[in-house]
Amino acid sequence: MTLHADPKSPIYNYKVAAYNVSKSAVNAYTVQLAWELRDSTIKVNAVHPGHVKTDMGGAAAPMEIVDGAKSSVAMALIGGDGPNGSYTHMGKTLPW
Ligand SMILES: NC(=O)c1ccc[n+]([C@@H]2O[C@H](COP(=O)([O-])OP(=O)(O)OC[C@H]3O[C@@H](n4cnc5c(N)ncnc54)[C@H](OP(=O)(O)O)[C@@H]3O)[C@@H](O)[C@H]2O)c1
Repeated sequence: MTLHADPKSPIYNYKVAAYNVSKSAVNAYTVQLAWELRDSTIKVNAVHPGHVKTDMGGAAAPMEIVDGAKSSVAMALIGGDGPNGSYTHMGKTLPW
């Protein structure tokens, strides 16, 4: 949302409404569910894989598939003191 509203953002012109709105819904649900489960051992986080050479990402994407998996694997391995309700890519927090 933050980057799509910023004309200086590199993704500003990638307006694919159904895809982008569904991703915003997933992000919003991440925040809501993380709060609901805040007193449990379950962590709820959203991960951006990067622009990856998959069927969807296309051959021109800069990241290899093995690197595109890294953020998801890292977040799958967080411990009890890990983040809850975050949005990350390669260890960095992203704006919603
Ligand atoms: N690639 C990128 O640069 C990039 C960037 C940001 C976020 N993402 C996100 O990462 C996730 C994976 O994307 P990807 O790049 O790996 O895409 P992908 O290579 O196109 O793979 C999409 C996968 O989703 C499955 N799928 C599609 N529609 C389905 C349905 N109705 N029911 C069940 N499975 C379905 C496909 O199954 P079949 O093979 O059987 O059709 C395929 O395994 C997506 O949520 C995407 O939005 C990707």
